[in-house]
Amino acid sequence: MFSRYKKTSSGPAAAARVPVAPIADADPAPSTAKPAATLRRPMTQKAAGEPVAMDKERKRRERMAEIKLDLHRALLDNLNLAALEHASEKDLRGEISAIAAEILEEKGIVLNRDDRQQLNNELYDEVTGLGPLETLLQDDTVNDILVNGPQQVFVEREGKLELSDVTFKDERHLLRIIDKIVSAVGRRVDESNPYVDARLADGSRFNAMVPPVAVDGSLVSIRKFKKDKLGIDDLVNFGAFSEEMAAYLQAAVATRLNIIVSGGTGSGKTTTLNALSSFIDNAERILTIEDTAELQLQQIHVGRMESRPPNVEGKGAVSPRDCLKNALRMRPDRIIVGETRGEEVIDMLQAMNTGHDGSMTTIHANSARDGISRLENMIAMAGIEMPIKAVRSQIASAVNLIVQASRLQDGSRRMTSITEITGMEGEVISMQEIFRFQRVGLTPENRIIGHFTATGVRSHYSERFRMWGYDLPASIYDPTRPEAG
Ligand SMILES: Nc1ncnc2c1ncn2[C@@H]1O[C@H](COP(=O)(O)OP(=O)(O)OP(=O)(O)O)[C@@H](O)[C@H]1O
Ligand SMILES: [Mg+2]
Repeated sequence: MFSRYKKTSSGPAAAARVPVAPIADADPAPSTAKPAATLRRPMTQKAAGEPVAMDKERKRRERMAEIKLDLHRALLDNLNLAALEHASEKDLRGEISAIAAEILEEKGIVLNRDDRQQLNNELYDEVTGLGPLETLLQDDTVNDILVNGPQQVFVEREGKLELSDVTFKDERHLLRIIDKIVSAVGRRVDESNPYVDARLADGSRFNAMVPPVAVDGSLVSIRKFKKDKLGIDDLVNFGAFSEEMAAYLQAAVATRLNIIVSGGTGSGKTTTLNALSSFIDNAERILTIEDTAELQLQQIHVGRMESRPPNVEGKGAVSPRDCLKNALRMRPDRIIVGETRGEEVIDMLQAMNTGHDGSMTTIHANSARDGISRLENMIAMAGIEMPIKAVRSQIASAVNLIVQASRLQDGSRRMTSITEITGMEGEVISMQEIFRFQRVGLTPENRIIGHFTATGVRSHYSERFRMWGYDLPASIYDPTRPEAG
């Protein structure tokens, strides 16, 4: 077979060296392989039809994985990788299936058409992409991909985790894919650098931790990048918050209140922050600081920064705090910090207090009150020795609003509370909740029933809103008009 993508030095002979054990039940030619396996089939499984079917399916998958891995090695031996970079997808797919067919024939392995097609697709993903992860990355219904070692890959759909049928051949296979990802961004992961953060080519956020720190095999977490981020209207339509809350939030952002989005992991903090940013005026200069750039601001004047960990020699780290300090010298109108989790809290609060009104960030916390404690802890951890009252009054004058995002037990993500910070009473920060999600029950399908409601408290910032031209009707603060959730 002639091919411009095929290495000239190694022909089919090289492929023939790849050890692939022919598997009996796929080989139509009379074969002597594995007679013992048939004899050893357990009685109990034979009696029950389903386990046998499941067993067969599992074996088929194992066999396909094995064939694929061996073929992949053979392909890498055979393909001219340099020429491959410029090949069109059609050429490359054709090439892969031709080489695969040739190798299968040499090994005497016969596959039906569907299996062959699947194998070719998977080989293509192995050669050009991220192997078994590729189908999940392309599946738009998947939000998160969570790998717990080679045999267990979970995905999150609509807020719920489910076990996928994707597996890796073994830990080596998984490691090879991880390595492919991290080396593409100039990083390394091995025993001495066992964890890494990276961004995939499509913008997805990627974290991996490899053995021995990861005890049962490499752990990989991917937060898929959504090209079309959920906007305010989408979130209202999904029941993430009510129209009244959206109107209130628009006034809050436009009139430059400092806002913290608080929530647990995967609760929708970044999505909320991104949606809130749509209320910022196009004329403003916005600087964003993130560990992995996820925000997609619609404004024209946006400067994006990404912090980074030290390289393998322990050099070159740029912390969120470094970014923030620099940002303050870049004449921002607003600063948006993807997540505040450490010493950068000091600069964030200072920025909020000193002329960068309308700044926003997120924190990991379960309620507004809890969020305040988190901020206090971060300040203490940053080594700032200040009396607690002074710390609290700093926080109270910096932060105007805490928006709580939650992932509820049915997987739905909702804004469960909007709370204003109104000042200090003695040593305590005073707050008032303006809107909340009122849960009332559960459907037989375990979906949460509830509605958004105002608490009846009028906003502390009503006058400010009015002066800036956001004259919200008093009715939006009326708790007797619950919005269906
Ligand atoms: N209201 C919503 N309805 C449906 N899906 C949502 C909603 N909010 C967020 N999502 C989806 O949930 C996933 C997690 O959201 P997001 O990244 O905003 O969470 P996060 O709290 O920032 O997570 P992390 O703590 O990992 O940074 C994303 O895939 C996002 O598209
Ligand atoms: Mg986030």
